Amino acid sequence: DWTMTRYIEQQVEAIREKVGDGKVLCALSGGVDSSVVAALVSKAVGRQLTCVFVDTGLMRKNEGDEVEQAFATRFDSNFVRANAQDRFFNKLKGLSDPEDKRKAIGEEFIRVFEDEARKIGAVDFLVQGTIYPDVIESGLGDSAVIKSHHNVGGLPSVVDFKELIEPLRLLFKDEVRAMGLELGLPDYLVWRQPFPGPGLGIRVLGEVTPDKVAILQEADWIFREEIAKAGLDRSINQYFAVLTGMRSVGVMGDGRTYDYTLALRGVTTSDFMTADWARIPYEVLDRVSVRIVNEVKHINRIVYDITSKPPATIEWE
Ligand code: XMP
Repeated sequence: DWTMTRYIEQQVEAIREKVGDGKVLCALSGGVDSSVVAALVSKAVGRQLTCVFVDTGLMRKNEGDEVEQAFATRFDSNFVRANAQDRFFNKLKGLSDPEDKRKAIGEEFIRVFEDEARKIGAVDFLVQGTIYPDVIESGLGDSAVIKSHHNVGGLPSVVDFKELIEPLRLLFKDEVRAMGLELGLPDYLVWRQPFPGPGLGIRVLGEVTPDKVAILQEADWIFREEIAKAGLDRSINQYFAVLTGMRSVGVMGDGRTYDYTLALRGVTTSDFMTADWARIPYEVLDRVSVRIVNEVKHINRIVYDITSKPPATIEWE
């Protein structure tokens, strides 16, 4: 009979057999799939695996440290954190078109990964967290590897390796999460909501600067904290804050302010192709609003997005 424990054992054996004494490379994004696959391969081949985590500076508050903590301490594989924040902010200077920003971030991601891979030297295997829905979505076969929507899309063409390892190919998301928990990954990684590859780069509308990202990180953190406190973090499938480029007049104490408008977004969906805006209780929205305006400088107005997809998309860019 089928159990996750047994399935993990089988996969571990299969990976060991395939890898032999070869060298394995994995791009860790901090998302559920890449974290689980890294944990699995780490269990199988230990130090023969190097996980490269590219810190773009566009992740949510504390996220980089959380990923590093989970992997550097829990698993017996090599962990490399490439602190590439400056590289990404430089590439984003002067860009305000969403697709230009996506392209710049995606390309720089590959460059940074390439640089790290070069330091590691010749690798035999590349690990990828492709799951069953990805396989279906992109048609069977190798197209799954180069899907550009994917966080690590395009990597295989720039890093030389002999073979791809994709041990999650037969699993659905809930099975991937079950595997992650069984492998000892913390809840906050296993239950992490989907996060776009370009990260906060497409949640700061228009030109991205370190200052704006810092403002958004603080606001988004408060939103997530209050949603979790209200016990809504698993029923709302994706929720986040967006820093609009709009500024408006407000009043604080005796003074007039002229600061940013922050938008909150929350959706319920099963496939992310269509989505409904989440009916977050007014009391929760009120707490979030009061806290953000009081605790985060340069935000003086909060709006809640009440459009569904379609016609709106989930992200604002
Ligand atoms: P949209 O905004 O198209 O988003 O309704 C659907 C889902 O895809 C995520 N998303 C992205 N993921 N790279 C990604 O890896 C991207 O460029 C990207 N754009 C959107 C979005 O967060 C949502 O879960």
